[in-house]
Amino acid sequence: MEIVEATEAAISRAAERLRAGAVVVLPTETVYGLAADATNARAIASIFATKRRPRFNPLIVHVPDAASASRLAVFHAPAQRLAEAFWPGALTLVLPKSDACQIADLVTAGLGTIALRAPLHPVPQAVLREVGVPLAAPSANRSGRVSPTTAQHVAQDFAREEGLILDGGPCLLGLESTIVGWNGDRPVLLRPGAIARGDIESVLDCEFDEAQASGAVTAPGQLASHYAPRARLRLNASALRDGEAFLGFGPGVSNATLNLSPSGDLLEAASNLFAALRSLDAADAEAIAVAPIPEHGLGEAINNRLRRAAAPRD
Ligand code: TXA
Ligand code: MG
Repeated sequence: MEIVEATEAAISRAAERLRAGAVVVLPTETVYGLAADATNARAIASIFATKRRPRFNPLIVHVPDAASASRLAVFHAPAQRLAEAFWPGALTLVLPKSDACQIADLVTAGLGTIALRAPLHPVPQAVLREVGVPLAAPSANRSGRVSPTTAQHVAQDFAREEGLILDGGPCLLGLESTIVGWNGDRPVLLRPGAIARGDIESVLDCEFDEAQASGAVTAPGQLASHYAPRARLRLNASALRDGEAFLGFGPGVSNATLNLSPSGDLLEAASNLFAALRSLDAADAEAIAVAPIPEHGLGEAINNRLRRAAAPRD
């Protein structure tokens, strides 16, 4: 794929390609996304082909704002409150599709629900407004690989594919969006992500239901092994073993190959996580030992991604 700086001209070129049914890689505040017209089934099929995703898992549909989202899904009061509080931003809401919803069935994997997000990043905002259709966009990595937080990561994964990558610099948050759904009237945290559980619970004024959402899908973000680097991962490591690279966290770590955040800041650690895994992997370590990461705030999402990266591969 070809990296181009996300200038106004490049944004118009991207919108034109998207309207013609091509896939285009866009930066967002979470991770880079492989976008296509969500109303065009052929375009969506090429997302799966490009990612070499083995199964048709449901994709997140990106819209410029809550008004556009309300044409695609049925919003109840708590969903509306979350959209007001966190959109545009790193929150994805899974809601019943509206009758007027013209999204290709492949996007929702035939489910009656749709996952919606209004991104904050100015580049997808500009593309969405110019293209005038909702865009489905999974993370722009080859299936099973670590999510990309720079245009260069994307180019590494898709060296042989045709296509445009709009370069908007490194992603500010560096972790995928938090996904919230409902089990009847009880909110469910479907995927921990760039917005911490507690921040969402305080807007909802209740805690998430611990049970799985009814009709929950086995989607890549929920598979045990995902976000996998080539090297094996050993979590909660206190001492280093031979042949290991060490991914540290916090102060007082002297032998780290890389430190996710020397000051112990979870936001900084989240934004560095995927780039760190990619760079340690490129350094050809046999295994990567990872320091313990506290489970509070964004630590929940960081540990979730680390556990998946460490899980046995299928
Ligand atoms: O930050 C993000 O969310 C990034 C950027 C590009 O926006 N996108 C992303 O998309 O992570 P993707 O396709 O990798 O993740 C889609 C996840 C699925 O794994 C699944 O967990 C959930 O969204 N999902 C989508 N539709 C759903 C539905 N109808 N019901 C339940 N979960 C759904
Ligand atoms: Mg992904």
